[in-house]
Parts: sequence; structure tokens; C-alpha cells
Amino acid sequence: MTQPARTSGPDLDASGAMMRLITGAWAARMVHTAAELCIADHLAEGPRDAGSLAAATASHAPSLARLLRALAAIGVLREDEDRRYALTPLGATLRSGVPGSMRPWVLLCFADDQGKAWEALTHAVKTGEHAYRHIFGVDKWTRLAQHPEAARLFDAAMQSLTEGANGAIIANYPFGQYRWIVDVGGGNGALLMPVLARHPGMRATLFDLPHVADAARARIAEAGLSDRYESVGGDAFAAVPAGADAYVLKGVIHDWEDAEALAILRTVRAAMGDGARLLVIERILPERIDPSDILTPGRFIHDINMMLNPGGRERTEAEFRDLLARAGLRLARIVPIPCPLSVIEADPA
Ligand SMILES: C[S@@+](CC[C@H](N)C(=O)[O-])C[C@H]1O[C@@H](n2cnc3c(N)ncnc32)[C@H](O)[C@@H]1O
Repeated sequence: MTQPARTSGPDLDASGAMMRLITGAWAARMVHTAAELCIADHLAEGPRDAGSLAAATASHAPSLARLLRALAAIGVLREDEDRRYALTPLGATLRSGVPGSMRPWVLLCFADDQGKAWEALTHAVKTGEHAYRHIFGVDKWTRLAQHPEAARLFDAAMQSLTEGANGAIIANYPFGQYRWIVDVGGGNGALLMPVLARHPGMRATLFDLPHVADAARARIAEAGLSDRYESVGGDAFAAVPAGADAYVLKGVIHDWEDAEALAILRTVRAAMGDGARLLVIERILPERIDPSDILTPGRFIHDINMMLNPGGRERTEAEFRDLLARAGLRLARIVPIPCPLSVIEADPA
């Protein structure tokens, strides 16, 4: 029997593309389970079959075998003729504790913390309410301060997300011109550690919430930098250490809506002498969607994550310029970095 001619309805290529886009959410879930089960760590020494991996991960062997096959189908693993599985370069990013590990970030994306906020996307769009606060009753930073395990995962995820970017920033921005740098909301302090190691005459201060600063202090000590790298706990809405040559706000301003972002910028401006400089390190949204730029979709997707999780936003250059001006700062130049982030230099106006 011949099929009736299609007279209307969606283009089949477009339907297929939509199917691939949406099943990407399931693929991401599969990758998350692989990360939870430490599959990549169990494959670090070489290929293994499903039975051996099931024993190593205390899993149901037939179900794990299906997951491994599906992970091979999406390029995370490679399946050999004997149905043994090996890591591809993509899969190797799920290994723990190696440079470039994405495992903490993958865990965070579906964790109780970050994953739940995404489930409230429709609610957030319909009401304008902050998804994270709607679910947990407090903002992200308050909850992380109360949940040390979640805070550790968040900090590790920030490290996995920013490790590659930090390398690119350090290689492309002349930090060597400053003698004292304060990294406000500096997290685990990873950005400035290699900078200090390279410039023996420089000193730095990490400034973050008290529980974050405490964890960073231990890391700084481990790196043997305590004599030049101080870690100070406090609240960037109240005051930050005054008198440094340069202040860094990396991945901080995008965590907040304009009123709070402005309050932080004003606190930092108040701590800056007239010759000091502020470095805002963020993704910059293009004014319009540029289909030829591969970084464009990621930037707009991160903007939605900012809306749902910390309750902030990614911004365009014009929006940064305006925000900085309202805080008494002048956007001096933007230093492009070969990564999704840029360094925005701002001077006292
Ligand atoms: C997205 S993280 C960025 C961390 C780091 N700068 C990086 O790029 O990896 C934002 C940081 O802001 C810190 N933060 C949040 N509220 C703060 C406040 N009121 N005062 C100081 N730091 C704060 C958080 O603890 C967190 O370390």
C-alpha cells in the first residue's frame, strides 16, 4: 500500500534534528551516571568488559552493559570486538583528580543543588521568580554555606569549569604589571596561584565568604604560597581589602542581577585608589545571535543557568559599560582571551 502524500506537518529533517536535540538531555543523564559510578576511573588502566565494570561499581551487570553500549554510541567510550570498553578522549574528561577533569562539573549539573533549579525553568519563566530560591527557600550562597558537601562539589565544579580558562587567561593577560592583586569572590584561589608562582615579587589576597576562604587558605598553604597569598573571609557587599593595585572579579558579577552586581562593584570601587584597576572576567554576550560563532549558543545557555541558579545574568559589552559607569568606573578596554571569557579592564572614572 502506498503512503498518502504528506501535505503538511513538520519538515522531517527538522523533526530529526529536534529529536537529536532533546535526546541530548538523556545522553547528558547517561554521562552523569557514568560520572557517579566512576566508570572513567575504572577504565584508567585500560579496557574492561561490562561484567568486570559491574563488579567494580557494584552495579546490575545487564543494565550496566546497556549503559556502556549507549555511552559508546555517543562517543564517550569505545567498544572493541570483544565488547570491552575503553575511554575515548571525551570519556577521559570524566576521570577524577586529573588536570582538565570535568567530572565535578558533570556531577554538579544534575546534583540536588544545581539540577533541581533547572527543573523549575518553566516556573521561572512564567513568574520571573528566582528558581533556586523558589525550591530551596534561600539563595545559593546561603545554602552552600549550610551544606559543606554541596559547597565542596560546587568549588570542585568551578575548578573543573575554569581550569582551562584560567590557563588561557594567565597566558594572555599581563598580570605581571601589578604588585598586589585582590581576587574578590576568588573561590579556591586557583587563578592567582600560578600567577604568583611566576612573579616572585607579587602578592595577592583571596577574598570570599568565610567558609570558602578557609578552604582556599589550606590549598594556598599546600602550594607553599602562604607568605605572599593571604585568604580573607568576608562579604563583598560590605567591604573588601583596600589599597591593592588590581582587583579581580571573575565569574562573580554574572551571579547577580543589576542591583546586587552594582552594590559589589561599588564596594570594590570604594576600596580602589585612583590608580588602581578592576579586572572583570566574564563571558560577554554578543548583541545579536551569531550563528557562525561556535561560542554563541553556550553563552546564551549559561545565561539561563545564571537566571535559574545564582539568580544572575550574562551581559553584553554595553551592559557592562553601563553597570561599571554607575559604580564610578570607566570600561577602558576588553582583552579577548582564546576561551569563552574576556578580561574587561575598568579604571576609576
Ligand atoms: C561562580 S563563583 C566564582 C569563583 C572564582 N572567581 C572562579 O572564577 O572560579 C562565585 C564566588 O563568589 C563568592 N561569593 C558569593 N557571595 C559572596 C559575597 N557576599 N562575598 C564574597 N564572595 C562571595 C562565592 O563563594 C564563589 O566563590
